[in-house]
Amino acid sequence: MSGNIKKIGVLTSGGDSPGMNAAIRAVVRTCAFHNIECTGIYRGYQGMIEGDFKEMGPRSVNNIINKGGTILKSARSKEFMTAEGRKKAHDNLIKHSIDAFVVIGGNGSFTGGLIFNKEFGFPVIGIPGTIDNDIYGTSHTLGYDTALNTVVEVIDKIRDTASSHNRLFFVEVMGRDAGHIALNAGIGAGAEEILIPEEDMGLDRLLDSLRKSKASGKSSSIVVIAEGDKIGKNAFELKDYVEENMPEYDVRVSILGHMQRGGSPSCFDRVLASRLGVKAVETLLEGKSNYMVGLIKDEIALTPLEQAVKGKSQIDQELIRVSDIVSI
Ligand code: F6P
Repeated sequence: MSGNIKKIGVLTSGGDSPGMNAAIRAVVRTCAFHNIECTGIYRGYQGMIEGDFKEMGPRSVNNIINKGGTILKSARSKEFMTAEGRKKAHDNLIKHSIDAFVVIGGNGSFTGGLIFNKEFGFPVIGIPGTIDNDIYGTSHTLGYDTALNTVVEVIDKIRDTASSHNRLFFVEVMGRDAGHIALNAGIGAGAEEILIPEEDMGLDRLLDSLRKSKASGKSSSIVVIAEGDKIGKNAFELKDYVEENMPEYDVRVSILGHMQRGGSPSCFDRVLASRLGVKAVETLLEGKSNYMVGLIKDEIALTPLEQAVKGKSQIDQELIRVSDIVSI
């Protein structure tokens, strides 16, 4: 392994996600395993700018593998978007003798890391952490699996009350630009319809589908909507629209919101975080930089950070077909 890197910084950035702590733990302990130092950078890039650093040894990450959120805290730093802010951050890294950093976050966090690398040649590795699963170069981002399980558990509960009252529920889930949570949790929870940003289903098709559901003998229905859906109406407007056009439906709305980002990570997310954390540090020690570590066909693989930022994670079209069939 390369002798150039003696100290690695680790930070979490952007929206938190379950599994970030498990990834921090893996990064810290892989550094200890290879006899190099590790520094925790608090509050994402903002903490890097303000010098909010703390040395981390293997015992500093005891009992966090099972915890949601991030012990390092997270932030979306506006100052890091400026050249002045990045210069301050670089000065702090040099002052603390940090040779490289691992950033756990989403697209915006990787873009920041990439710009930083271009400006200062500073070695950076990204670990994909977001519940949205919207990052190119990995089949799963950290927190996505946990969020799916949370959403399915909640929709199961909503279904109990929906069926008791013969109601239609619009359930809005997170996913600003991506429908992965809606599509997968929707199938897992047996939703009648799933509205995602990648597909403009159209209001007519929605009404048509609800009519068919009624005619086929369904007394209650669940429609899952990704928050970034492109149908042109939010969940409350959809409720009004359906009630105007189909007065036979008694409609309610549930916005699941930030509960989807919290909670103890699933076993899948803990194992993924551990594998990604080890690979991130060992990639830096091999003298490589500017990569994202991800899961591709069950193997941990490297994708150039630039590609991870520019590429678009795709919705599995087969899942849309499956959903259409099993919701008949
Ligand atoms: O990117 C993850 C995410 O949870 C999105 O699904 C959601 O739109 C956004 O973060 C919410 O961000 P904030 O917590 O800043 O409101």
